[in-house]
Amino acid sequence: MNACLRAAVRYGLAHDVEMYGVENGYQGMIEGRIRPLGHEDVSGIIARGGTILGTARSKDFMTPEGRARAAEQLRSHGIEGLVACGGDGTFTGATVFAEEHGIRAVGTPGTIDNDLYGTDLTIGYDTAINTAMEAVDKLRDTAESHGRTFFVEVMGRHAGFIAIDVGLATGAEFIAVPETPTNFDALCRYMEEFDHPKRHIFIISEGDEYGNAQKFAEDFKARFNVDTRVTVLGHIQRGGSPTARDRILATRLGASAVQALLDGEHGVMAGEVNGEIAFTPMRQTWERKAQINRGLLELAELLR
Ligand code: F6P
Repeated sequence: MNACLRAAVRYGLAHDVEMYGVENGYQGMIEGRIRPLGHEDVSGIIARGGTILGTARSKDFMTPEGRARAAEQLRSHGIEGLVACGGDGTFTGATVFAEEHGIRAVGTPGTIDNDLYGTDLTIGYDTAINTAMEAVDKLRDTAESHGRTFFVEVMGRHAGFIAIDVGLATGAEFIAVPETPTNFDALCRYMEEFDHPKRHIFIISEGDEYGNAQKFAEDFKARFNVDTRVTVLGHIQRGGSPTARDRILATRLGASAVQALLDGEHGVMAGEVNGEIAFTPMRQTWERKAQINRGLLELAELLR
């Protein structure tokens, strides 16, 4: 998100636009935590994870009163356009806000889940899967040396993108995602046929309908009586210095969002599709679901 912020600010300044930063997301907007941002304010942040502005899930912004206060705050600063970086919650908020108060907003996709329609990749996703991949590589050393089966839980909320890519990149023996029904018995049969139900890495998406990594591990242990371990990677996936791919994506999208506002566009999200910048109506980004590639799941199964 920092790389996106830096690009938006400097692109705007380069086009003689006054730029402001809103601290703590919509909550900060309601509270008037709005400050001018200059060239130096975003210096050195391209290599830092997160956002220097802070962010928050705001309950107040879900109320008409909260949104009215936020609109007042923007007006009092003479702000005419908004670049909103986030996921479906951020865009739902921006859409209602525009309908009620005519605030023009362009979104940029900032979520590690990669679950937004209208962009091939979201900002933060590449960093998250690389972080998770490195962690799983390290876990494999123990899995191999100690003959243990690891159940590694990755983030993704209701989407399996992270699990699939991390599973493929680490040669995991099994990947469980919310988008496809998990057949635990079929997995066990495969394990029975296999040399030994040990030393494996299973990637479990946190939203899988069968259960979390702990549940998988308990059921597996009950069936095979082998040594299992559970690792929940958690928020480690959301931090750290971004990859080059993420920095470049965020930079392109941050600048494109400002350009779109200058062109009179609004109510859209800037994304990258097949290497080109593409704008998608915000509503579609969550109404049309970003689809996982089921072929990748099949490939991972074939190669295990
Ligand atoms: O949407 C991004 C995400 O990291 C999900 O993958 C995860 O389920 C959720 O946010 C965690 O949210 P919180 O930080 O509020 O616990």
